[in-house]
Amino acid sequence: MPRRAYRTTATGDGETIATFLNLRCFAGQIPQTLRPYVVAEAFLNTSFPIHVLALWPDLESAHQHPSYFVVFKVISMKTILVTGGAGFIGSCFVRRAIAQGDVRIINLDKLTYAGNPDSIPEDSDAHQLIKGDIGDRALVRSLLNTHTPSAIVNFAAESHVDRSIDGPLTFVETNVLGTCRMLEEVREYYSQLQGLARETFRFLHVSTDEVYGSLGATGLFTEETAYSPNSPYSASKAASDHFVRAYLHTYGLPVLITNCSNNYGPYQFPEKLIPLIIMNVLEGKPLPVYGDGLNVRDWLFVEDHCSAIETVLSNGRVGECYNVGGNNEQTNISIVKMICSTVDRLCPGLPHAPSESLIKYVKDRPGHDRRYAIDATKIENELGWKPQQDFQSGLELTVRWYLENRVWVDRVQSGKYRGERLGLG
Ligand SMILES: NC(=O)c1ccc[n+]([C@@H]2O[C@H](COP(=O)([O-])OP(=O)(O)OC[C@H]3O[C@@H](n4cnc5c(N)ncnc54)[C@H](O)[C@@H]3O)[C@@H](O)[C@H]2O)c1
Repeated sequence: MPRRAYRTTATGDGETIATFLNLRCFAGQIPQTLRPYVVAEAFLNTSFPIHVLALWPDLESAHQHPSYFVVFKVISMKTILVTGGAGFIGSCFVRRAIAQGDVRIINLDKLTYAGNPDSIPEDSDAHQLIKGDIGDRALVRSLLNTHTPSAIVNFAAESHVDRSIDGPLTFVETNVLGTCRMLEEVREYYSQLQGLARETFRFLHVSTDEVYGSLGATGLFTEETAYSPNSPYSASKAASDHFVRAYLHTYGLPVLITNCSNNYGPYQFPEKLIPLIIMNVLEGKPLPVYGDGLNVRDWLFVEDHCSAIETVLSNGRVGECYNVGGNNEQTNISIVKMICSTVDRLCPGLPHAPSESLIKYVKDRPGHDRRYAIDATKIENELGWKPQQDFQSGLELTVRWYLENRVWVDRVQSGKYRGERLGLG
């Protein structure tokens, strides 16, 4: 995650400026070498120290005059409340944030079948996992008041389309009501923030391209495409997006929304297409392909999705939606064939090789959207984000990860899900 440098200006002595920034001043505890430049070791609405570097145009005059112009660079050890940070994408965001430093993560996750503590680092000063529901208002309130985050990134959701066909109400409960209950608490919290803490606070809602519905053979989803969700999953995500937007327009909550295409990569629960096919190939099981296998999705490596979220969080314009995609359209059948050839190459001698012989066309998913494709021009042009991973090497990296992490797979599979077919309606 890029270091976030807040720049602001103020006139006054150390005390006035500290008040403006909502800081508590400390004497001592500051390295000798930095002392001339440090006016305060401070708390910026977090329980973590922040070094405030006050760069005077002229240090001598700064000491002599009671009032002077200063430019601040605040290097913050900020706190982010991440929800759903034990899931596939959220855990990637958490691992990256901790590796990059300068941030503390409070990770609120219900630990449903899809949430896995094995995917995230152990609790430390930089990361704390709280088992709980985003819809538990008392819990969310207490986390906000205790940890005073400078941002919230909302990954928490029920995320599997087939499950939403079997049981839509769980999706309404978490994706719609859970998000709304949390928004109510965040609105109250935000109303009490002041100064820089209020100016810089952000609520980033992670959403999907599935809210836009299905495309024909041509065309791309832009941020202006009308929402037209077709599955209970995408309808619940669309509803939550609308509420997030409404909290901006009605209450002035500084929100951002990202709508991303299909993700793949390490740590994905093996009910989703790519890990399911990898595991079935390794185990010599049939490879189910829905319908004619020609449904098209745009695929993005999970690290690229997380870098897009970091970019939008740091530099996105409040109230904007950003489409995120890999410019990488693939039919389901071509993905399955690529996985077969990758596994056959990496694991020579499999008894069922060539693994394509395991492909089995099965009854299509009800209401299966034909094609999704993302136009990511806005985030590329406005914020300079671009995906880094090409599909061929990203897929190989993913297959290798599943080969090398059988313990992780065994542990998630020993839960409720055992690879059975869901979502036939
Ligand atoms: N996977 C994709 O391809 C994709 C693409 C675009 C957008 N998204 C969105 O990104 C987000 C994360 O997706 P994912 O693939 O990591 O999902 P996931 O199913 O792997 O993880 C979801 C996480 O949320 C947690 N959770 C569920 N209900 C909760 C609740 N009520 N309170 C707190 N935590 C709860 C789960 O325990 C799990 O850890 C979702 O909002 C999803 O809609 C996913």
